[in-house]
Amino acid sequence: MLEVGKVGKDDVLVDLGSGDGRILTTAVKDFGAKAAFGYEIREDLFKTASSEITRQSLDARVKIFNRDLFQADLKEATVVTLYLTTYANERLKPKLRAEAHPKTRIVSHDFMINGWKPARKENYNEHTIYVYSVPESYM
Ligand SMILES: C[S@@+](CC[C@H](N)C(=O)[O-])C[C@H]1O[C@@H](n2cnc3c(N)ncnc32)[C@H](O)[C@@H]1O
Repeated sequence: MLEVGKVGKDDVLVDLGSGDGRILTTAVKDFGAKAAFGYEIREDLFKTASSEITRQSLDARVKIFNRDLFQADLKEATVVTLYLTTYANERLKPKLRAEAHPKTRIVSHDFMINGWKPARKENYNEHTIYVYSVPESYM
């Protein structure tokens, strides 16, 4: 996702449903992202991710919230990552349309955003990564 999304030093990444936090830590550590923010509803995963962020001394650049992703703050995002479901992506469309800034890339693992036109689509083994551009991908 991070490779296909071309994440780099000028990016602020927001992972909606951040799981164990691996996208966040990898974005900052291996791809040089300025900052990464995650929203994770499950407390156990939030705790696992928090410990990992601290263990890797990334607290200054990686923050996670034990909160519903529909409450996420997208103001600073230049990249939004999703590994959810087609249904969740559908429900997210109004939020993304309202809050994602022009030029934000929305990178979705395996699940399309139905009705939007991906700027790019790449296959990795059995997986597909879709990259959407704001606002060009909106239809
Ligand atoms: C397939 S995992 C992806 C984890 C991570 N983004 C990655 O790519 O490695 C999806 C995560 O989204 C979380 N999730 C699902 N619905 C959510 C919601 N409404 N708010 C926050 N997190 C949610 C799940 O608990 C799960 O950890």
